[in-house]
Amino acid sequence: MSLHLGRTTFGNIINKENVLSKEEAEKIFTTWVLNPKLRLHMKQVAYLMKCWAAEKLNATETTQWKWEMAGLLHDADWDQWPDLHCQKIIEELEARNIDPEIIRAIASHGHTHFGVEPETEMDKMLYAFDELSGLIHAYSLMRPNGYEGMEVKGVNKRLKEKIFAANVSREDINDACQRANIALNDLIAFIIPRQAMVK
Ligand SMILES: [Fe+2]
Ligand SMILES: [Fe+2]
Repeated sequence: MSLHLGRTTFGNIINKENVLSKEEAEKIFTTWVLNPKLRLHMKQVAYLMKCWAAEKLNATETTQWKWEMAGLLHDADWDQWPDLHCQKIIEELEARNIDPEIIRAIASHGHTHFGVEPETEMDKMLYAFDELSGLIHAYSLMRPNGYEGMEVKGVNKRLKEKIFAANVSREDINDACQRANIALNDLIAFIIPRQAMVK
């Protein structure tokens, strides 16, 4: 099964700045995604994206929501239509005339699968947060106090254990850090306290 999208341009530039309302995004999220674990993952990535836009880019609320929306919907079709991941959500957002920047970020969150290289900062951060966030969450679940007291070095240890969260690609994590030009430890330190807030 190939998830290759077969194209590298998405949406229409005339729709720049068009976003879903929070209610519209929430509706897709709750009707398309039934698996509570996947929901939590998507909410975590959404919050990390929003925090990055707010804290690192000093972005306006509208831009913060664009980043958050990309995170919130990046795996929207994975639960019920895994063979169509992420084609289905892309087509939905294109039909709703959504800003191409958001659609492109979603399309590039797994370049080895979808054949779309992460290019913009939004693309790169979604790609970087996606896998690392999952590994850090898996680590929190095996710690008696969850995220409390979690340190960067503990995450580093888990990263070195190939059997821990074995489905999380260490190669992708390193590749994402290089592309985003961010040190792995800084990214881990950014994720831990923020992800801890998402329930
Ligand atoms: Fe995905
Ligand atoms: Fe994901």
